[in-house]
Amino acid sequence: MQKILVKAKALLLVVALLVTLAACGENNTTSSTGLTSQSVSVSESERKFYKPTSLTVTLYDAENLCYGFTWNTEYKPIESVVQICEGTKFSEESCTEYGAETSMQTVYMPNPTLIYVAKTQCELKPNTTYTYRAYDKGAEIGTDLATFTTIDHSAKSFTFVHVSDSQVTGLDSDITYSGDGTGVQFGKALEEIVKIKPAFLLHTGDIVEWSKYETYWKNMLDFNGLYLRELPFMAISGNHETTYRAGENEVFKHFNIKIPEQTTEKGFFYYFDVGDARFIMLNTNNLTDTGIDFAQKTWLEEALNTNKKWKIVAMHHPLYSVGKWGSDPEQNETSLLLRSQLSSLFAENGVDLVLQGHDHTYSKTYPINTNGVAVKNSTFRTENSVKYIVNPKGTIYAMHGAAGTQTRSPVNIDESIFEIAAASKPGSFAEIKVEKDRITVHIKYVEDGKAVNYTSYGIIKE
Ligand SMILES: [Fe+2]
Ligand SMILES: [Fe+2]
Repeated sequence: MQKILVKAKALLLVVALLVTLAACGENNTTSSTGLTSQSVSVSESERKFYKPTSLTVTLYDAENLCYGFTWNTEYKPIESVVQICEGTKFSEESCTEYGAETSMQTVYMPNPTLIYVAKTQCELKPNTTYTYRAYDKGAEIGTDLATFTTIDHSAKSFTFVHVSDSQVTGLDSDITYSGDGTGVQFGKALEEIVKIKPAFLLHTGDIVEWSKYETYWKNMLDFNGLYLRELPFMAISGNHETTYRAGENEVFKHFNIKIPEQTTEKGFFYYFDVGDARFIMLNTNNLTDTGIDFAQKTWLEEALNTNKKWKIVAMHHPLYSVGKWGSDPEQNETSLLLRSQLSSLFAENGVDLVLQGHDHTYSKTYPINTNGVAVKNSTFRTENSVKYIVNPKGTIYAMHGAAGTQTRSPVNIDESIFEIAAASKPGSFAEIKVEKDRITVHIKYVEDGKAVNYTSYGIIKE
């Protein structure tokens, strides 16, 4: 049985890859299953097995306003579509339908189980509100409706939210776990994040505690589905998505993102542009003895070669952090390795901000220059209670806490490097506004169901 599962999985991963490489919206306005809603009758007792679950939305191809969708079903879908309407009202007749490609995948519940993963993508209009659902036209069952507003590359500003290390866990009695069993704390953060209506959520990894277990993903995606269906989710893999009771390809399995050609078993890298900003999403999970491997380094150098005003890098493992992985001399080997490989490269190429994860603390460096030196004597300007650094002479490295419950404290604070260094709070996130001349960051956490501002900082480039 296991052999059959492995063969089926290999075949269907190829199918999934072909689907992902399809151009946005191209020939996918009808279902790919070949069956029509009239050709299969579904009994009432079976209907629930066709219900789409774990629905996510992504900026599949941000430059072309192409949004991606992914969802799961227990039974093979009959006619699986995304139905999407302009505005906040929904009627099936006035929606556009996009057929989904479906692949059978093995997941762990914790025992190996076959599920169906559906993916599709569609090109949308800028700055437009849409209401949508994933739906099986044959079984006549779908998700609840969700609403989001698309990005506008020509807008004067946009806001996104950075989260990290949510590490949602599961409830399986035969798996030991720690932390927040149902994703409640992350849900509290998401409830506040949705109110901001960010263009997207950027997650720097360790999304679930043990990525191998689909139950953990379901706890996150279904328990918090109300919020996540409305938040385009741009993720990279943390070590919990790779080496720590990991499956294969788990993050990529749950999010429909256009990525350059690469293997995805231990994470993946890609970049996307919004307005005048480039977001470079690195994979730090398959390092060599010199850091990221040759293929990713070559790709990174090309990605950095852009005229975009703002360059923001996202990575799970930190270069500069006050937590144990960044500042404990016995545990910061990876941090030092990445620092020696990438710190100067980032400064030389004008990277403004590096969003990091893994250490779960709050920290922010002074600008690190091309020689790897923190430039403490910079020009600062305070506006609206936010302390901005003006024309920084280097790259700033930030960590914005843990979005779940696994908060941590600094182990060592080098005040010549770090301007902010503190223990994080549960349900942390950073609200980040990008404007023509500045980036403004508000580090927040959730207390008693409300978002509280921990501190703010900003970068002005004139
Ligand atoms: Fe983590
Ligand atoms: Fe981590």
